[in-house]
Amino acid sequence: MGAGKTMTGREVAERLGRTFVDMDEVLAGQHGAIRELFLRHGEPWFREREEQLTGAALDSSRADVIALGGGAPGSRKTREALSRRAYTVLLDIDVDRAWERVRETDRPNAQDEATFRRLYEERQPLYREVADAVATDADGVILAAGGVHHEPGALDRLGELVPGDGPAALLADATVLGIHGERAIRALGDRLAQTIEIPAGEQAKQLDVVRRVWSELRLDRTGTVVALGGGTTTDLAGFAAATYLRGVPWVPVPTTLVGQVDAAIGGKTAIDIPEGKNLVGAFRWPARVILDETLLETLPERERRQGRAELLKTELLANATLDVRGAAAYKTALCLRDPYDHGPRQWLNLGHTFAHALEAAADFDLPHGEAVALGLLAALRLSGRDTARVEQELQPRPVAVDGERAWQALLRDKKRAGDAINIVVLTGEGPAVEGRPPEEVRRQLDRLIS
Ligand SMILES: NC(=O)c1ccc[n+]([C@@H]2O[C@H](COP(=O)([O-])OP(=O)(O)OC[C@H]3O[C@@H](n4cnc5c(N)ncnc54)[C@H](O)[C@@H]3O)[C@@H](O)[C@H]2O)c1
Repeated sequence: MGAGKTMTGREVAERLGRTFVDMDEVLAGQHGAIRELFLRHGEPWFREREEQLTGAALDSSRADVIALGGGAPGSRKTREALSRRAYTVLLDIDVDRAWERVRETDRPNAQDEATFRRLYEERQPLYREVADAVATDADGVILAAGGVHHEPGALDRLGELVPGDGPAALLADATVLGIHGERAIRALGDRLAQTIEIPAGEQAKQLDVVRRVWSELRLDRTGTVVALGGGTTTDLAGFAAATYLRGVPWVPVPTTLVGQVDAAIGGKTAIDIPEGKNLVGAFRWPARVILDETLLETLPERERRQGRAELLKTELLANATLDVRGAAAYKTALCLRDPYDHGPRQWLNLGHTFAHALEAAADFDLPHGEAVALGLLAALRLSGRDTARVEQELQPRPVAVDGERAWQALLRDKKRAGDAINIVVLTGEGPAVEGRPPEEVRRQLDRLIS
């Protein structure tokens, strides 16, 4: 009671593109105001109706977001249905704040403070028993539902946080292994079956590296691949996990800002081939993503800048100021909503059509973050938006590449919708993919080139 299930549930449902079902509203809709029902029929009668309707909602084949009544987990049947049918998040609140919120409402069980506090204490153990995760806000619910664990210092709890109790193979970036490897190895303890070192940087995402990983891996299907490093390590390790034994679970532990706000989230894995970057890969949702921001303390400034471009991109999409946790939650929601990238997940490509074209024209000798910063300028201009924030925070400078090469790369990269080119833009209603005339797109591309 008073934890904010209705408000948070509604926000979570909207961000995940699901239907929101508030069990208290369903009950009131069928039988009348809850307070009246309590008075007229007594609580046991009410709980029986609640159990029936909750059971029906949980048995529905739709993946809805459901706000349960605070007393609902008191029913054994409901608890069983929850463990069978639902991913259950306890929305946690301390008793004093909860009481402040409900004291002047007409909720039947919040009419006097002593009863309220007693119920709070009584219900806690049941809540903890049914909860798959605990959260305090919408971001927390979304992160939990997506299997993303955010905790400073989480690296030291790796052994507990990697789901299951089978063996783990640690795949780590050579540089990161030197800096944070010992802690990871200690934290995995008895679960660590082997450590495989991966080259640092984009060289990791090569077929010969995957081949070596396939032949060195000694896991059976009870094992988990744990990836420690930036986006290149997690892309490579995720792809190895997706293909080894037709797929074993994997847990990315991203150590770059790019990795924490972007690459490690959403289950896209890939390697490069001579024909292009990320051309071979698989969708494989991680068993858990572990975000430990303290790992970023050793990240060189040059690498941090790459991440800031993706973070600002996410802020523009969300139209909000975000930290690492908030940006991770934003991406997680889009990926849960559209795991295979057929719809809103494509918004994450804001600015990227231009960025990829510039990178290709520069033979990939242009840091991705700098290309994204330029791409954001073009996307904002096409959206009729102010570019001041991108200019101040990322200071993009036009690059010296061949304009025609960049244009050809852009045409190859992008799906064309008839005569138009599909571009992610920001509209009054939020991000959208819109077809734009080629001349307009070319003009914006040319402005990014010196
Ligand atoms: N799968 C996806 O959805 C997705 C999304 C975005 C980007 N990506 C991919 O991510 C890759 C880029 O990732 P990245 O920017 O993290 O680069 P990266 O993995 O190459 O890491 C950058 C450099 O930082 C070093 N490093 C990493 N963590 C460190 C730490 N904590 N302390 C000190 N040094 C550290 C690495 O050794 C490396 O040299 C690209 O290949 C891109 O395609 C994938």
